[in-house]
Amino acid sequence: MTTTTVPVASREDALAVIDPNSYADWDKALDTFDRLRRDTPVVRIDSPDGEFDSFWLLTRYEDAMRVSKDNAHFLNAPRPSVFTSKQGEEFARQITRAQGDESPNLVSSLVALDAPKHPQLRRLTQEWFMPKNLRTIEAAVRELAAKTADRFVAAGPEADFVPLVAAPYPLHVVMQILGVPEEDEPRMLFLTQQMFGGQDEELNKSGLANLSPEQIFQIVTGAVADFEAYFEGLAAQRREHPTTDVATLLANADISARDRAGYYIIVAAAGHDTTSASTAGAMLALARDPEQFAKVKADRSLVPGIVEEAIRWTTPVQHFMRTATEDTQIGDVTIKAGDWLMINYVAANHDPAQFDNPRKFDATREANRHIAFGAGAHQCLGLHLARLEMRLLFEALLDRIDSVELAGEPRRAKSTFVGGLKTLPLRFSAC
Ligand code: HEM
Repeated sequence: MTTTTVPVASREDALAVIDPNSYADWDKALDTFDRLRRDTPVVRIDSPDGEFDSFWLLTRYEDAMRVSKDNAHFLNAPRPSVFTSKQGEEFARQITRAQGDESPNLVSSLVALDAPKHPQLRRLTQEWFMPKNLRTIEAAVRELAAKTADRFVAAGPEADFVPLVAAPYPLHVVMQILGVPEEDEPRMLFLTQQMFGGQDEELNKSGLANLSPEQIFQIVTGAVADFEAYFEGLAAQRREHPTTDVATLLANADISARDRAGYYIIVAAAGHDTTSASTAGAMLALARDPEQFAKVKADRSLVPGIVEEAIRWTTPVQHFMRTATEDTQIGDVTIKAGDWLMINYVAANHDPAQFDNPRKFDATREANRHIAFGAGAHQCLGLHLARLEMRLLFEALLDRIDSVELAGEPRRAKSTFVGGLKTLPLRFSAC
């Protein structure tokens, strides 16, 4: 059935979807998505002050899946693939125009490309990230997990899990893959947090609350330029001294310098803040639920369930955007060619039509087919790596701690894009 009236979100709901602060108040954000999904599952979000172009918000799991999998009719490249203000998009276009390849996305990376270029680039590293190849790095990741867990225990009986474990561990793994030496990791962490945490004044280290879009954009642009310069040097080194890592694959690929830099940047950036958020979320869930902690401690076969549920429950990547190529119907709403859509993974992963009692963390949840890694051609390249890292870390932690509880209120990052805990104060007893 096609309706003639277009569902448009109220000003308050529009702000709740686009304001980074609202994602820091998680339960309230979930309440908003629940109400929108129930009343207007496909709803237009208009800018209350004209700062951004209107887009359609998808809150139902089935719509999120359909759009994600239909890569012929819902593209990543024409408009920003991450929610951006008009001004931000224009800045990106100015910069990329000057580089001779105008794009609304500052970085030419997998998430900003469509076929035929996207599958060509993706194929370069796809095999490397599959479980078979990951077995070649499993022992090294296990060792790192053990060291990280030891460091955590040594800092007890009270410690903040995020800076000690959740942030440095996935960063170290992805930096090893990219061939970044340990001494350069803090710089990479700083740059990624500036790029992804650009909306949170604590994470972008600017010390300025309420940054203007221009200020945020300048911080992000600076971080991208720094990344590019750094990885150009690294590629030159790998061409001279090849190894079996991803850095070598990329250094020797027949692609432009801009595409190569974009590839390094997406793997470096996507590869750790995300896993860090789901790792911290898993620990939060266990700290709040001593019974579930005792269960998984006694039965390690539950660890993969903890990992998968934590990824759904936290949904670290909160959205990606798509652009429709032709008029199409989603539910009761007609989407026009050229319209911009937000696949909201947080809302989709909390859709009661797909998940019973979605706000409950349940390590034994059956058929946990969440969409936290996306779906279709762009589905997360690093999903097997993320699962492996988390499994090995929780095995190491469960070997070392007997009990864990909250030692203070955890705080979430303010971000519309990659979100999660920035502090997780814990009290625990070592075995
Ligand atoms: C829990 C951790 C992670 C989550 C929740 C996550 C989530 C996502 C999501 C939602 C997408 C977009 C999917 C889509 O558009 O359909 C994505 C893409 C991507 N992720 Fe992850 N990710 C995680 C970890 C990682 C890791 C460890 C890596 C690293 C190596 C990685 C690398 C990438 C890359 C390269 C893409 C772009 C793929 C493409 O466009 O073809 N991610 N991820």
